[in-house]
Amino acid sequence: MKHIALYPGSFDPITFGHLDILERATNLFDKVLVTVAVNHRKNAVFSGDERVELIKECLKGKEWARNVEVDQFTGLLVNHAKKVKANTLIRGVRQISDFEYEFRMALTNKRLAPEVDTVFLMPDEHFTFISASLVKEVAHWNGDLSSFVPERVAKALLEKLNS
Ligand code: PNS
Repeated sequence: MKHIALYPGSFDPITFGHLDILERATNLFDKVLVTVAVNHRKNAVFSGDERVELIKECLKGKEWARNVEVDQFTGLLVNHAKKVKANTLIRGVRQISDFEYEFRMALTNKRLAPEVDTVFLMPDEHFTFISASLVKEVAHWNGDLSSFVPERVAKALLEKLNS
């Protein structure tokens, strides 16, 4: 049986931290589906389609991304997991402060769909402080984004924030 894992997130935008977690997940599962959560109640900088496209561009030519697919969903994550026959959710935990929220979310998802498990992965220590919201803050003030996000993402972010 092929083991499919779902790596959900807002990815607004994808960062080096996300890519690090994703690469780790590809070593553990047959297929990893990165899924962009589109929540119209949240004010995202990028649309769902734009976030999917940026992720795909970041994965282009990467040998380790052979077993990665990218899609988007709206609604409950566990419903999407069932639809794509994924029985594992991947979440990155950067520090202890992430854990409380992640643990509550994992338990909620488990109550909704007991057959779906959440696996927590730690990024490389270099990425433990990177978050999409801090990246947007740095971009807003025209700071150097090169150690936080791939060049393509930095360009898209600056274009978006200056438009
Ligand atoms: O990157 P994020 O914003 O931390 O990702 C959070 C996300 C999108 C995974 C989470 O908010 C989510 O799963 N949203 C979909 C709605 C849902 O299923 N909520 C119940 C889980 S508590």
